[in-house]
Amino acid sequence: MNNNELPDPDENGIIRILPISFFADKKQLLRKFNINPHIYDFFQEHIVRPFIHKANYNRHYEILKSELTMLKNKNILDIACGTGSIVTYLDPSNCYTGLDISYKLLKNASKRIKSRKFKEKSLIQGKAENLPYKNNSFDFICCNTALHMIPDYKKAIQEIPRVLDTGGSFLGCCPVTGIDNKFDKIWKKVVQKRKMIHSLSEDDIKSICEISGLKYKQIGTNGGLLYFRSEK
Ligand SMILES: C[S@@+](CC[C@H](N)C(=O)[O-])C[C@H]1O[C@@H](n2cnc3c(N)ncnc32)[C@H](O)[C@@H]1O
Repeated sequence: MNNNELPDPDENGIIRILPISFFADKKQLLRKFNINPHIYDFFQEHIVRPFIHKANYNRHYEILKSELTMLKNKNILDIACGTGSIVTYLDPSNCYTGLDISYKLLKNASKRIKSRKFKEKSLIQGKAENLPYKNNSFDFICCNTALHMIPDYKKAIQEIPRVLDTGGSFLGCCPVTGIDNKFDKIWKKVVQKRKMIHSLSEDDIKSICEISGLKYKQIGTNGGLLYFRSEK
């Protein structure tokens, strides 16, 4: 695979590349993501999707499933993978890499991928804005409901075409304003209260993808969630 210049994984199977200095001024940010993973998954399913995203949880995974189950023998990067929720839909012939800044969530992803017989698998504690991979390393990249939480989301999107191989695809899902009135109302309040969350529109995402050299195509919506595929 492409991580031969990275350190060895630790006892939890996680490769840690963030320098100690990264943690010094990021206490608030990391506290936010260092949530108990079980609470986190429950919270996503029963609170965030229905009441904040105004989305149907089953439809969310149906859309992702329809895009993911057909992938075979691909080198896949899951950006901001959290607890690794998408691995359930991936064929074992693929190589899976999950990257996230939260060690706690990665630990749960580690348990989740243990039982999956991927051709190769790795988990890395790193930043989406600075992917530790060479150009053209992956055939497929996924970022499930995370762009709005990544501090420099523009840089994170710009990194994708660099590490994506020519002909490869980026599958994204992100809450956006302008597609569901009920979501827009609640999102305005969420963004006012939680300064670290971005309020993005479909045009914001489309234009950064296109500026970065990715072809953008919407594949569906679900409440305030936008699903899109971008090809290099
Ligand atoms: C709403 S969660 C989505 C997690 C997962 N993709 C899922 O669908 O369950 C957002 C994730 O973004 C991660 N995150 C936030 N900022 C990040 C960054 N700069 N680089 C990598 N991951 C980041 C958080 O740790 C968290 O796991």
